[in-house]
Amino acid sequence: MKKLFLLSLTTLLLFGCGNEPQEETPERSDESKQKIAEMKLATDHHTYARPNDAVVTHLDWDASVDFETRVISGTAHYDIKREGDASSIIFDIRELTIDSVMTDDGGKVEFEIGPEEDFLGQPLHIPITENTTRVSISYKSAPNAAALLWVEGEKPFLFTQSQAILARTWIPCQDSPGIRFTYNAKVQVPQGLLALMSAENPTALNDEGVYEFKMEQPIPSYLMALAVGDIAYAEIGERTAVYATPDLIEAAHYEFQEMDDMLVAAEALYGDYAWGRYDLLILPAAFPFGGMENPRLTFATPTIIAGDRSLTALVAHELAHSWSGNLVTNATWDDFWLNEGFTVYFEQRIMETVYGRETSEMLATLSYQGLTMEVEEIMDRNPNDTHLKLHLKDRDPDEGMSAIAYDKGYFFLRLLEETVGRERWDVFLKEYFTSNSFKVMDTERFVDYLSTNLLSEEELQTVDLDSWIYGAGLPSNIPSVESDRIQKVDQANLAWINGEMSTADLPWNDWAYQERYRFLTNLPNELSADRLAELDVTYNITATGNNEVLFAWLEQSLKHDYEPAYDRAEEFLVNVGRRKFLTPLYRVMKETGKMEMALAIYEKARPNYHAVAYNTMDELLYEAETNE
Ligand code: BES
Ligand code: ZN
Repeated sequence: MKKLFLLSLTTLLLFGCGNEPQEETPERSDESKQKIAEMKLATDHHTYARPNDAVVTHLDWDASVDFETRVISGTAHYDIKREGDASSIIFDIRELTIDSVMTDDGGKVEFEIGPEEDFLGQPLHIPITENTTRVSISYKSAPNAAALLWVEGEKPFLFTQSQAILARTWIPCQDSPGIRFTYNAKVQVPQGLLALMSAENPTALNDEGVYEFKMEQPIPSYLMALAVGDIAYAEIGERTAVYATPDLIEAAHYEFQEMDDMLVAAEALYGDYAWGRYDLLILPAAFPFGGMENPRLTFATPTIIAGDRSLTALVAHELAHSWSGNLVTNATWDDFWLNEGFTVYFEQRIMETVYGRETSEMLATLSYQGLTMEVEEIMDRNPNDTHLKLHLKDRDPDEGMSAIAYDKGYFFLRLLEETVGRERWDVFLKEYFTSNSFKVMDTERFVDYLSTNLLSEEELQTVDLDSWIYGAGLPSNIPSVESDRIQKVDQANLAWINGEMSTADLPWNDWAYQERYRFLTNLPNELSADRLAELDVTYNITATGNNEVLFAWLEQSLKHDYEPAYDRAEEFLVNVGRRKFLTPLYRVMKETGKMEMALAIYEKARPNYHAVAYNTMDELLYEAETNE
């Protein structure tokens, strides 16, 4: 990697760069385009597929969803492209039962399934000839398929979560972010339920429970998504709407009114929206993430419904992925920061446009605090995990989901913006998205693109790409964030802790959620439960409807043994499956001698969680425990 980087720098020096007048850029750009096009993309270690031999181009998916047996069964018909003299095409599968495989020239064919590996599942080898253009795989998913969560209730609900490599647990696929395909689908679900996908979607029930879908733009498998449930629809703008269960539809419709403004802001920044509609689906609270950028239909947790539109940054984030991630896609999970760092940056810009710089800078302050705290933690464990370019070979790519890709990525891009100025940066970024649309990008290719199309030699020196991308920790030129409002919170925080300001004099009621969150996440380690009681009596924080504030409050309550909040903590942990909230709350119980309480709550809550969440909690509460 280092070598490649040096090489690109040399090329750059040879061709000259940067400070020359703008007119000369196109010439250099052509050369760079040529050179970048010739660069070999990084290998994805998390797929068995060998796309250079044979690759899928289109999927026709015929499936039916059975809630009784918790099985999705059906046939995946793939159009394929064979290169050279390849004699087989390889798919990723994990815990799928393969019933039969047909090809358009061979009829029923003998397939082979290789040995199973952790996280990766198994390779499915299908023999092909020079005449094969289509393969059809009939299969069933396992009842405990890791991507799927079957939620019980009067009306049941099913949703998928494919990123990073879980699509292979519900569809046989070439499960690599670098492989794109279009798809059509026909899905049979129980009558009375609506089905939605990352595609053109219905807005009303079909009497027979049969739904057809079309995704005309090629997407990678991790963006395949399906949800089935009692789902209502409410329009917001011409291109935007929310879907949610009937009990939440009204609240969701109010909460996300600004979705249209966000879409307009995003397009004004970095180019036309490429996917037609942008809708939002509010999932059951068991959804393990805040949001997932499934094309045309973001999946989101209901915990962002606060009643006052204060947690909409998450929608800005998932919307931003319609460019960073869904249009220009990380080639491998080691390049995850290209998806997430760009998206946090873009999210911030949307927030700045729609809500103003004061709000976006408050958010940036929270991002900075989260980042510095997490970097410290990761540095203790494994400093290599603080590199922007990750090292996930032989590991679960899920381990890449830390503040590094997101917030270190964000601050790196903010540094680039501040180095060249917003005007040049925005032109560059728009061109980056346009010229790389529906393509993959890896870190080396990006560095090359950046060095050739944006940064002068001098700027390259100031930025120091090498230490940001391949170095540990946070480089000393990390941009600083200025927020007067957050500074005032910090002053109040200190004064309150020192007893110079009374609880009643805190401006809590005037504070936005970001200010409250900042206050609560900066309480000292030594603090009596009585002081928390004062806050709670005065501001009724245990009853807050803002889940970010509630989370920060519960963490403090558990840390400082403030018992009146324990019931709410239990209720929250049993009902909410969002991993970002769960991990710190269980961890603080574990670290403050409340392991019994943690295990008792977890026993109740675990059946409600998605695999993504319970795998992490199992490790925290079961496996690590035996090591102690
Ligand atoms: N694409 C991610 C979610 C993801 C990443 C799922 C990696 C599986 C593997 C999504 O865009 C995301 O980043 N969600 C964040 C919210 C965001 C506001 C930071 C989340 O869920 O917390
Ligand atoms: Zn994201």
